[in-house]
Amino acid sequence: MTSTVTVRVPAKVNVQLAVGGRRADGFHDLANVFLAVSLFDSVSATPADALRLTASGPDAGEIPLDGTNLAARAANALAARHGLEPRVHLHIAKDIPVAGGMAGGSADAAGALLACDTLWGTNTSRDELLALCAELGSDVPFSLVGGAALGRGRGELLTPLETGGSFHWVFAVAEGGLSTPAVYGECDRLRESAGTGAGVADVPAPEPSDRLLEALRTGDAATLAGALSNDLQAAAVSLRPSLAETLEAGTAAGALAALVSGSGPTCAFLAKDAESAASVAESLLASRTCRTARPATGPAPGARVLA
Ligand code: C5P
Repeated sequence: MTSTVTVRVPAKVNVQLAVGGRRADGFHDLANVFLAVSLFDSVSATPADALRLTASGPDAGEIPLDGTNLAARAANALAARHGLEPRVHLHIAKDIPVAGGMAGGSADAAGALLACDTLWGTNTSRDELLALCAELGSDVPFSLVGGAALGRGRGELLTPLETGGSFHWVFAVAEGGLSTPAVYGECDRLRESAGTGAGVADVPAPEPSDRLLEALRTGDAATLAGALSNDLQAAAVSLRPSLAETLEAGTAAGALAALVSGSGPTCAFLAKDAESAASVAESLLASRTCRTARPATGPAPGARVLA
């Protein structure tokens, strides 16, 4: 009998990403409204002599397979927490864009935690798992929880949000990724060069938009479209000017709204319905302004052990 545990974990889009000033610890306070969407990575954990990591999928070659991988760090952290050796082979079946602003690395970390906790029978409480997630990265707790949630602090302090239905999206995946720290750094640089300053005292405290939360609650795509915002978008476009063309191509194709997903370079397009999403995806591909265009829906469930 093989005793492999497989966990499926969703990608995310930030429907609001309000970025406050740079804190003394280098992070930025956020009002971060996360929506999990139906692009998934799977993380499988199998007993092994020592920690080993493999990956499959078209972009598997782009992720590190050593101890720096967030999934490996998650397995090490959980093992250390319980005084165990991380004797596990982790396999990541990668479908979430790599370094794409959709929390793919965070998804793998949350998936590895849940898969190892199940395989090892360590029965870590939900609160402890969430604390381990937060140590691994700002977006990791949300990958575990999924659905829709407001993230405060650096994004790790979550309040689940009600949603009134499913939203239809298209994700335009770019050639190559963007570094999250580089995009935050560019956001600071743009603020400094605009003369407003980039510190906590210079930038208004980030607040969630009532209109956006209401649109999520009622499932109203048109209102959500008018309320989407991402304070990192200008920085991502500054580092990757061609994203402006991608955003424009999806808007011209009939999307209700377009924005950069998180720190990018993936661009997210909200569509009226599934049919419109399929047509926006087709036009985006034909526009040659992206590598691929993927329809998806949200909210999607968080990390789940597959039967
Ligand atoms: O938490 P995580 O490891 O994902 O963060 C990666 C980098 O992104 C941080 O080192 C920091 O430069 C930037 N970041 C930030 N403010 C946040 C989240 C991330 O400045 N709230």
